[in-house]
Order: sequence, then structure tokens, then C-alpha cells
Amino acid sequence: MFDTVIQGGTIYTPEKTFIGDIGIVGETITEITDGKRLEGKQTIDATRKCVFPGFIDPHVHIHLPFMGTNAIDDHESASKAALVGGTTTIIEMICPGPEDEPEAAFTEWKGLAQEGCCCDYTFHLAVVRFDDLAKEQLRNLVANEGVQSFKIFLAYKGALNISDEHLLELMQLCKELGVTLTAHCENAEAIDAMQKQLIEDGKTGTEWHEPSRPRNVEAGGVAHLCDIAKKTGATVYVVHTSCGEAVDRAMEAKSRGVDVTVEAVAPHLVLDKTYAERPDFEGAKFVMSPPLRDKEEHEALWSGLANGSVLTIGTDHAPFNFHGQKDMGAENFTLIPNGIPSIQERVDLVHTYGVCTGKIGMQTMVDACSTNVAKQFNMYPRKGAIQIGSEADIVVYDPDFVGTFKHEDGLSKVDYSGFEGMERKGRSDVVLLRGTIVAEQGTFVGETGVGTYIPR
Ligand code: URP
Ligand code: ZN
Ligand code: ZN
Repeated sequence: MFDTVIQGGTIYTPEKTFIGDIGIVGETITEITDGKRLEGKQTIDATRKCVFPGFIDPHVHIHLPFMGTNAIDDHESASKAALVGGTTTIIEMICPGPEDEPEAAFTEWKGLAQEGCCCDYTFHLAVVRFDDLAKEQLRNLVANEGVQSFKIFLAYKGALNISDEHLLELMQLCKELGVTLTAHCENAEAIDAMQKQLIEDGKTGTEWHEPSRPRNVEAGGVAHLCDIAKKTGATVYVVHTSCGEAVDRAMEAKSRGVDVTVEAVAPHLVLDKTYAERPDFEGAKFVMSPPLRDKEEHEALWSGLANGSVLTIGTDHAPFNFHGQKDMGAENFTLIPNGIPSIQERVDLVHTYGVCTGKIGMQTMVDACSTNVAKQFNMYPRKGAIQIGSEADIVVYDPDFVGTFKHEDGLSKVDYSGFEGMERKGRSDVVLLRGTIVAEQGTFVGETGVGTYIPR
């Protein structure tokens, strides 16, 4: 007798897709059949529904002290939003300041997550400080705490960026430790100079955000990262890639032997720069970096996903309220806290605008939003797969649900939705975290604080 049985859904396993049943004992998948009916203490009817592995978001910000404020979610609100949207594991960016010690930052972020996180979680650790003490602590965190990925910013001069000297040495350390280096690719100096000039010229509105950090600067950042990766042999992962030019630079480097992976994030796939140009400061809701681009770039990213150049889809969830936070930049776009929240909407956006339009297949959605993330960041097959022995993180998904994205449906604390009124097809009907039902039809029904840290 199983504790829970999911009956009659279309199951997506790494090998094949078929209609069948899944049996769960405790927190683990223990049986999968493609005909034989299973019986359990609890039954979930998945007829006419898809059964996916729990989705994994490779790029979220929850505790984020940034641009003079702090992102508005806490781990409870962000993880509840994640779960109702079908995301059962998140990878949060630990982003300490230039004076902070890495071990203290790890302890702080992990402590906050332990207090309230309702989904499972792990971390990428941003390397902002890189002196001898920091290097020693980075080694300790990898050896003792299961940290397997660092993060660097080629952006945000004076706040989070890293010098080339430190970047080279850090990549050598990553190579030695077998750690993946995730990277925000732009050019901190160039952007700072361009932004100063624009502001001096009186170009202070949100419509100047994109021109202040153009595509070629982002593509140049990718090329720069890959050049150093080529020299050092480090494994690199380009986060939130916004345009075809940047994907192309990464693929050129890959063809020269660089171990590089490209991530897209939900806002860049469905929103374009005209949103950030909206009048009356409305555009501030859509200020993120790299910026929203021309609509044509959506096609470049979707086709990158379809042909395997882009392997993962995250959110870069970075929630700042429109009132009281974004408006810090009402007179100067460079002071608007950067970020567009989407931790809840990601899977439905990808389903609606990628799968339902035929730009990508359902399997690509599952791979990019779950399996590839688990593989890339050393959680596979514990996470990211429906197979015997994997944790029972499972999404029973209703592909026929039709609605619109609405802020009022959101569980994040943020005061707006970047996708308000947009058409929505599909919804996570039942979400299980390690065998327990935690969300049903848009409502969180789990227990607060039961998320666990996933050492990698
Ligand atoms: O605009 C963004 N992306 N905000 C969050 C910080 C980052 O660069 O990831
Ligand atoms: Zn970034
Ligand atoms: Zn980010």
C-alpha cells in the first residue's frame, strides 16, 4: 500500500512520456506504472493532466539588500508563491556587500531561509569580497556546507562588481574546487559611464534604462567571461541572458571548448522594452538588468531553448514595491531598484507563451525549468526527475486551464504584477513537496517552514 498514488496522468520521465500511475511512500517515488493501477491511502486523480517533476528555479533573490533598499519578500512569502506556481526547489543568490565575510553571509541567508521557507532551497554564493580571508572561507563553505556554485557580477559598480584581477583568480579557484561560476554579464565601468552621461544630459526617465546598458555590452560581458573561462578551464553559467547576441557569444565560446551554459529568465521571454518605456513612471515596474529588449529577442531566446543553446529558465525574482521602492528613482532611472518578480508565474508563462505557441515542446519546458537545472547544479536525480528513488516533488498540471495573470492571485508581498492582464494557459493543479500536498489550484495548503536545505 502506497501513502499516495497519482493516477492516470501523462507522466514525463527522463526516458519517455506515457499515461500511468505513480506510487509514493514517505518522501520518495517508489513505483511508476504505465498500465497497472496502483492503490494508496491517498489518491490524486490526474486524468487529462500532465505529471511533471517539481520545478526548480535556478535564480531567485529573496533576501536582497540592493540599491539602498531590500527586496520585499521574505522566505515564507516567496516560497509560497513558488509552490503555488509549481516550483518546489529554489536556488537563491546570496548577495553580501563588499565588506561582508562569505561565511557570515552564508549563515545569515541560511538562517533566514530556515525560519520560513516552505519549499526546498539551496544557494549560489556571490563573491564580492576576495581577499585572503574570503578565499579561505569560500574553501570552507565548499568543503563543509555543500556550496557548489559561486556568482559574480560584471555590473553594479561599487556595490557588487568584481575586478578582472579577482575574476581570473576566482575562476582558478572554481576550477580547483569543481565549483560552477554563475555570472551576471555586462560591464560595470561602461554602464556607469553611460548612465552618468545620460543623467547629465537630462535623460532621467525609465525609457533610458535599456539604452544605458545595450545588447553589445551584455554580449561583450559574456565574451569576456568566456575568454577567462577558456584560460582557466572553469565551468561558467551565464544568468539572465536577454538577447541573441549574448547567446551567440556563449555558443561561439562553447564551440572553442569553453564549458558554458546559458540561462534565460521569464521576463526576458515575454516582456519587451516598450513596457519599461510606459509613461507616468509605470515603466519602473519593468526596470531590470540586463534590460528588457526589443520583441525580436524573444524569438532568439525561444529558438535558443528549442535548439539547446539555452538550457535553463529561471525567474531572477527580485521583488521591489512600485510604491515606496521603485519610486526612489522617480527623478533618476539609475536609482530605481532593479528587478521584476515572477517566481509564481514562471511555469505558466513558459507554458502559455512557449509551449502553447509551438515555440518549444512540453519536454523542453520540463527540461529547462526542472531537469537541466537539477543536472547543472548537482541535485539530479534527487530532484528534477520522476523516477524511482527520486524525491516525490511532483506537479500535477492542468494544461487546459485558461485565465489571466492577476496581481490579486499572487502570494509574493510585492505590490504589482509585471504580467497583469496577460493571457494565461495552464495551472499547477496539485503540487507535492517530498510526498506531501503543499498547493492546490493556486492555494498554498502546506506547512510553513518545512523547506529543507539541499547541500550539493
Ligand atoms: O534586475 C535585476 N536582475 N535585479 C536583481 C539583481 C540581478 O542582477 O540579478
Ligand atoms: Zn543579475
Ligand atoms: Zn538576479
